[in-house]
Amino acid sequence: MTAETITTVDTGATIHPRWVRICHWINALAILVMIGSGWQIYNASPLFDFVFPRQIALGNWLAGALLWHFAAMWLFVVNGLVYVLLGFATGRFRRKFVPIHAGEVVADVKAALTGHLAHDDLAVYNAVQKLLYVGVILAGAIIVLSGLAIWKPVQLQALTMLFGGYDAARYVHFIAMAAIAGFVAIHMVMTFVVPKSLRAMITGR
Ligand code: HEM
Ligand code: HEM
Repeated sequence: MTAETITTVDTGATIHPRWVRICHWINALAILVMIGSGWQIYNASPLFDFVFPRQIALGNWLAGALLWHFAAMWLFVVNGLVYVLLGFATGRFRRKFVPIHAGEVVADVKAALTGHLAHDDLAVYNAVQKLLYVGVILAGAIIVLSGLAIWKPVQLQALTMLFGGYDAARYVHFIAMAAIAGFVAIHMVMTFVVPKSLRAMITGR
């Protein structure tokens, strides 16, 4: 752990320590590439009745998209592991993300919908934020596991079977992507709505 992490937690001066900010922005980049290339892969053999517009799909064609997907995968997984390990080791997850009470989530959703949800202390997450952040981290774990299951269905047979087979794992992978994309859409709107939150994720304060 860096000295910075310890002093910032003690003094409360820094909202997001440097490791959170670095991991966060690497993750944002990796997710963009994973979703863009994933959409291109999807277009080559769609699961549903629609395809994604070519302009927003990455990699030009199936093989190109797979190269992007498997390259950014390493960035996404290694960076994600660093974030989760440090999240537990520094106690950040315990301090910031729990406990989550159902009653508070309902109250905060109501407050948010009527425009009364306060965001005055950026260092403290409300119940909806906690739920969404924990939720997206879990979705990240599911998308990695289901991705491994469809990448190596022979070597990782047990994992693929755990998802109910190759086809089911593909649906799980897709649904996890949809959940993450939905999160990112809401998350980006909130980032620009809540004053100073973007600055805090860039400069730390
Ligand atoms: C360890 C991480 C990952 C691995 C090993 C992985 C692996 C794969 C593989 C092998 C495919 C091709 C499936 C097929 O041939 O139909 C695929 C498709 C796809 N991936 Fe990933 N992936 C990972 C992470 C992600 C992430 C983080 C996202 C987005 C947030 C994502 C989104 C997609 C999408 C949208 C598709 C197309 C869905 C389909 O038509 O099956 N993947 N992935
Ligand atoms: C370019 C797009 C993005 C922007 C502008 C952005 C911005 C931000 C900001 C300003 C915060 C601090 C918000 C707060 O005070 O609640 C934050 C936190 C967070 N963001 Fe993002 N974000 C982006 C993409 C993502 C993506 C793709 C993910 C995951 C899929 C993500 C996951 C998170 C998580 C888990 C936190 C809480 C981190 C912690 O406190 O440890 N963000 N983001």
